[in-house]
Amino acid sequence: MASVSDHDLAALAAVARDARERAHAPYSRFRVGAALLDEHGRVHGGCNVENAAYPQSLCAEAVALGALVAAGGTRVRAVVVAGDGAETLVPCGGCRQKLSEFAGADTPVVSIDDSRVRARHTLGELLPFGFGPAHLRSS
Ligand code: THU
Repeated sequence: MASVSDHDLAALAAVARDARERAHAPYSRFRVGAALLDEHGRVHGGCNVENAAYPQSLCAEAVALGALVAAGGTRVRAVVVAGDGAETLVPCGGCRQKLSEFAGADTPVVSIDDSRVRARHTLGELLPFGFGPAHLRSS
């Protein structure tokens, strides 16, 4: 598995927790923060942004992805998601697909809460047999 260094993990965790503090989640009250490491070693954060028209809400991972792309990043080298609850937070199915556009099967996805690392997965574990650009090619 591609691993994330302790140094990068600390930076990613700080950004994810900080972004989570600013989540706009008045409807679910479920606050999520995300942080992505790009190919230049830069960290991009995002939080969930809910909307009174519920389906228009944005997940934290999607917001962080937008920040990465807007900053010129093209690859996701590591993902950290910050949440809190009885169940360990993992990216939703849609966000797994969005992340897969810029990440690989071995990209680490680390789940954290306010105080500790809860779980480590790879994107391939979370999204096996994912749909990608190769499927668009004609035979
Ligand atoms: N949420 C995220 O931001 N990321 C996930 O991977 C799971 C769910 C948000 C969406 C919604 O604002 C709230 O959590 C409850 O589903």
